[in-house]
Amino acid sequence: MTPAWAQVAYLVAAACFIVALKGLSSPRTARVGNLVGAAGAALAVVVVLLAGDIDNVGWILGAIGVGMVAGVPVARRVQMTSMPQLVALFNGVGGGAAAIVAAIELTDPGPQLLSGGGPESGGLPLAAAIVTLVIGAVSFSGSLVTFAKLQELMTTRPVLINGGPVIFAALIAATVAVGVAVGLANGTGAGPIWGVLGLVVLSLALGVLFVLPVGGADVPIVISLLNAFTGIAVAAGGYVLDNTLLLVAGTLVGASGTILTRAMAAAMGRSLANILFGAFRGGSTAGSTAESDRPVRSSGPEDVAIVLGYAQKVIIVPGYGLAVAQAQHVVHELAQLLAKRGVDVSYAIHPVAGRMPGHMNVLLAEANVPYEQLLEMESVNGQFPRTDVALVVGANDVVNPAARTTPGSPIYGMPILDVDHAKSVVFLKRSMRPGFAGIENELLYDARTSLVFGDAKDSLTKIVSALKSV
Ligand code: TAP
Repeated sequence: MTPAWAQVAYLVAAACFIVALKGLSSPRTARVGNLVGAAGAALAVVVVLLAGDIDNVGWILGAIGVGMVAGVPVARRVQMTSMPQLVALFNGVGGGAAAIVAAIELTDPGPQLLSGGGPESGGLPLAAAIVTLVIGAVSFSGSLVTFAKLQELMTTRPVLINGGPVIFAALIAATVAVGVAVGLANGTGAGPIWGVLGLVVLSLALGVLFVLPVGGADVPIVISLLNAFTGIAVAAGGYVLDNTLLLVAGTLVGASGTILTRAMAAAMGRSLANILFGAFRGGSTAGSTAESDRPVRSSGPEDVAIVLGYAQKVIIVPGYGLAVAQAQHVVHELAQLLAKRGVDVSYAIHPVAGRMPGHMNVLLAEANVPYEQLLEMESVNGQFPRTDVALVVGANDVVNPAARTTPGSPIYGMPILDVDHAKSVVFLKRSMRPGFAGIENELLYDARTSLVFGDAKDSLTKIVSALKSV
């Protein structure tokens, strides 16, 4: 029985999680939101240690120590561009932890899981434990595969296995059958270790097969979906352990992960079914990385400085290349210089520019770009026809008109920034290689487009110094 003071502390921790989520919804409050969430999690751990009837405290503290020694330096050192794979790894560990808790409960059942153990025992908690085990293990192995894909330890393209859909369906059927068998046996208190192990193996295989056919730009969406899975597993685990805080925290993660998954799929103009099972139907989400050799109009930084300096309205369109080049500070310097000259400058932010949700917002916030200058796709698109120069800094797919014009293209249907409606367009990029989706961008060959080849930070630095003498 959890003491009353601990219940109150759990309530405070749950409130912290909700305040944290609210804070994370805006770049202005995200940092504080993150800290509030971490404080809630720390409070929850301390309360469990003090109020719970816990054995092996030394081992537990040792494990926390090992986790901190491994996790803190990784989280501190990770490059912003590698953040999605770190999130995948942390998420997988969460799913794995939930699965281990459920496996222990199933092999060594407490009164909650045994029929006749009390008014709320038996069927439902038992089913919840089995669900926790399956979803947690799926999330664990699926997240490890997404990590391997994003870290390029394996191909980022969809991996198709002969007879994949049939094997997948057979695995689901076997998982359900073994799950039911474990449930029936466990109601008697038999603690069927082989059944539980079988369920673990089947669920791990299911997680791998679930993610293998997903490729390219869709991987982060699957990470978000697996994150929602982990939340559901943790919530179900909270029910099994009769722990309200786990139930609340898991539900919050499950709900927010689901909302984020839907929002990302919508921003890419794709349905979730298409993302998960599109490759089975023969569609591929990743294209080539080959360089095109069609002629384009290239410009020098000095020419661009003149065009920008005498423009009335400039919209800067940041993309993944801004993150790679770490050009956020110099792009802000350029915007400030232009503003001083009376040029109307703003930034157009596409929801999936970069490699993670909010990537551009985080980068530009780091350079202290005022939030008012960051315009969302819906509000900025109407402004492009009045824009003298759209300066595209390391973006490609999010401005590719193929999304509007080329049915069958991997990005067809994705809402894009209407950069092609501007009076002129300048691309800063290093080569003629395509963006993440691996497809040609016809806008690069348009008569109103010019390209400045080179690393975005170098090019911007040269443009800034040239502008100072215009
Ligand atoms: P991309 O289409 O990937 O284009 C990036 C561009 O940056 C490329 O043209 C690349 O050309 C250029 N670039 C790379 N490094 C550079 C550097 N150091 N200096 C200058 N340019 C550089 O990026 P995007 O337009 O931001 O679109 C994002 C893509 O990623 C979409 O397809 C999206 O679906 C996908 N995606 C998004 C997310 C989220 S949630 N944001 C997650 C995963 C995938 P060069 O190589 O020629 O320089």
